Parts: sequence; structure tokens; C-alpha cells
Amino acid sequence: MFSFFKRRPERPAFTDFGFLAVDLHSHLIPGIDDGVPDLETALTCLQAFEALGYRKVITTPHVLRDYYPNSSDTIRQGLLELRRAMAETELTIQVEAAAEYLIDDHFMTLLQADDLLTFGQKYVLVELSFANAPLNLDDIIFQLRTKGYVPILAHPERYSYFKDQPERIRKLKEQGCLLQLNLLSLLGQYGGRVQQQAKQLLDDSLVDFLGSDLHRVRDAEKLTQLLHAKEMNWLESHSFLNEKLLT
Ligand SMILES: [Fe+2]
Repeated sequence: MFSFFKRRPERPAFTDFGFLAVDLHSHLIPGIDDGVPDLETALTCLQAFEALGYRKVITTPHVLRDYYPNSSDTIRQGLLELRRAMAETELTIQVEAAAEYLIDDHFMTLLQADDLLTFGQKYVLVELSFANAPLNLDDIIFQLRTKGYVPILAHPERYSYFKDQPERIRKLKEQGCLLQLNLLSLLGQYGGRVQQQAKQLLDDSLVDFLGSDLHRVRDAEKLTQLLHAKEMNWLESHSFLNEKLLT
């Protein structure tokens, strides 16, 4: 048989995450939330980010009063210690810190006091309860925008109450809220429903940023796995704002 018409093996479109350059969602300040437990693990994760092609990590510990009562100060202090530990290594990746704020009463107090950790264009990473969205979410987004902040909603694909509600998500975007999809949602890390919701958001071109939401070394291994998965094709023909966070 002639093997004349044999197809060339397909080459993966992505060899690493260099096309994003910056990750804007992770939990790498040791011991202050459900992320990495110690500096050694944080350094291992940063090494993994570097190997995956990232040039900067903006790490975002939870601010969640009852469970992780972090303040701007505890996070800044944690960043200093992390950078001090990095200085003893060969790592060249840049590390900054902000936070992942749960939108609740405590968040509103911080907003009124202008005590929010931001990055880029006054971006604030926020998350919602998984049970239900705040009734006054539109008003909260308006208050953030009025004060000059740009909210980025973390993992919109994970909120079941947004499923089949593209008009609700579109409205948030019209109000000036940006959206950050979790990369591992593509791989099914949070189940099939979340995976489908992620695909829908991409198909509807509603996604502004891709984030790792990395909590542990295992998540970095899954990111490597994702690079070889067919779901990476869902990202083709889309562009994201991550790289703009380099400066
Ligand atoms: Fe997170």
C-alpha cells in the first residue's frame, strides 16, 4: 500500500502558556488560605509556572472574613517573605500579589474604605458565593465602577445559577465587569457541567482572562496535562488580556 496520502501527525497548537505570559489567579502565599501550606511548595509551584512559559504570577489569596480573614497587610507581608525566599533560588519569574475577594458585607466595607488590593488597570478579582448571587450584584458592580475599580469575576463558569443565562453574564459585562475563566475548567476539574459552561462562555466570546486558580502542585501537573488535551483547541481564535498585565 502507498502511504502517500497518510496525514502528517497533527502538531499541538500550544506548546506552553507563553501566549498568556501572566497568570492572575492563584493561592501561593503560604498558610493564609486553602492554597500552598509552606514556602517550599510555593517555590515548587513558581518553578512549574516558569516551566509552563509564564513570565509573571499575580497571586491572589482569598479574603473571606469567616474562613480566611486576610487583610492587605497580611498579604503584602506574605509577598515579602515569598520574594525573600525566591531570592535564594534561580527563579526569574516576577511575582506580585492582590487578592480574591468574596463579595459580601466585609468586601463592601473594604470597598468603602478603598482598602482593596488591585493590579493592572485598577483590576479587582472577585468571586461570588456558589449558592446564589447577591441580590444587589448590579449595584455592587456599579459602586466598584464609580470608584474607578474594574471588577474581574473569577470562574463565572463555576456558578450553577448562571447556567443557561447568557443574558445575565452579558449584562455584567455591559456594566464593565470582566470575566476570568479557570483553565482547569476546560479539563473537567470541576465536573462536566462546569466544563460545558466554560466552553459556552468561550464560544460566546465573553472571556477576558484565563487563570490557573492554582492551589497546589497537583494543579500545575494538570496544567501540563491540559496542554496536550483536545480542549486546548477551544482557545484557538480567541485572544485574552493576560499579556497586558506584563507592564
Ligand atoms: Fe481562587
